[in-house]
Amino acid sequence: MARVAVIPGDGIGQEVTAEVAKLLVKLKSQGLPIDFKTYDFSADRYLETGVAMPPGALEKLSTYDAIFAGAFGDPRVPDSAHACAIILGARQKLDLYVNLRPVRLLDERLTPLKGRTKADVDFVIVRENTEGAYVGAGGFVRKGTPHEVALQETVATRLGVERILRYAFELARARRRRLAMADKHNALRFSSDLWFRTFTEIAHEYADVEARHLFVDNLCFQLVRDPSQFDIIVTENLFGDLISDLGAGLAGGLGLAPSANLNPEKRLGLFEPVHGSAPDLAGKGVANPMAALLSAAMMLDFVGLPEAASTLERAVETCIHEGLTTPDLGGALKTSAVGDAVLGKL
Ligand code: NAD
Ligand code: IPM
Ligand code: MN
Repeated sequence: MARVAVIPGDGIGQEVTAEVAKLLVKLKSQGLPIDFKTYDFSADRYLETGVAMPPGALEKLSTYDAIFAGAFGDPRVPDSAHACAIILGARQKLDLYVNLRPVRLLDERLTPLKGRTKADVDFVIVRENTEGAYVGAGGFVRKGTPHEVALQETVATRLGVERILRYAFELARARRRRLAMADKHNALRFSSDLWFRTFTEIAHEYADVEARHLFVDNLCFQLVRDPSQFDIIVTENLFGDLISDLGAGLAGGLGLAPSANLNPEKRLGLFEPVHGSAPDLAGKGVANPMAALLSAAMMLDFVGLPEAASTLERAVETCIHEGLTTPDLGGALKTSAVGDAVLGKL
């Protein structure tokens, strides 16, 4: 029995996760070995209790076979303290060092790039998920004065860089054996330098993989100019965050972009859409649940239900072809109606 912890979170995170919960209930009723428990860690709870998660919560979550998260972020918590504690906390403290963000065009009508086919937009971003600018090292001096200084450190460790590069090279072997590593070692002469040196060294061990280095600014340009160049893209944490949304834009938007946060050695996985809580849409019932459902498909695969995963992916694709979508994809359906349409095709 696969046990899943579900954390809907804030804003549209709650709305899209409701569709994932419907999916899990349906799979369970069809006899699949899956069950879930919901946790209410969110801005509401943080504002009520003053704590984002009770002590021991992350340890408890890590006992599940998988975690599903909606999104975290609320205008009433302007410093995102609870979101940092929950999602960044989980990534750091559970050492979910792989952030996998596949970018796959499911229908040619959805890309803003002229003349691009489904085969042209099909790559995976492998984002380092525990280091870089996200370690939370830094501080203020003379805060709130005209002489204020703010420092935000970027951390790269040899172990951290090497393990994510190796993961990406192995994944390239399982796909089209083409890998691009993006850094900025022309300007970031310490952290990116370590990335570039480690990459150059490791690439020799994977002679069967075509490995290429790009500066990350050029990568952004090349992704728009001709995304068919790319199969695996590996990069550090902050660059990976930015490229994720760019990639989502190439394949139909944030409403379709799934992700997995993994620790392969500990077999831990947290699955979530790439998008946030979208306060501009929250409460309107029009958020696209497909990114969440596609993230759930990655989760089903992870917990050993690959057939259910691919059936779900196909169901999403069919709904898109049939125009059974929310307004971001040109349709007129509400979140729950799209969820029902997808489930109806399982
Ligand atoms: P966002 O991803 O929430 O929204 C960006 C844009 O995409 C908005 O116009 C939104 O309406 C649209 N969009 C996003 N998801 C959509 C969906 N499922 N269907 C249709 N349209 C969708 O990013 P933002 O506005 O920069 O951030 C809002 C809040 O979410 C912030 O508090 C931010 O910190 C947080 N955030 C959280 C996560 C996470 O929990 N993993 C990720 C990103 C942002
Ligand atoms: C993401 C989000 C997060 C990140 C935020 C909410 C901290 O943008 O998952 O892409 O920057 O990693
Ligand atoms: Mn992001």
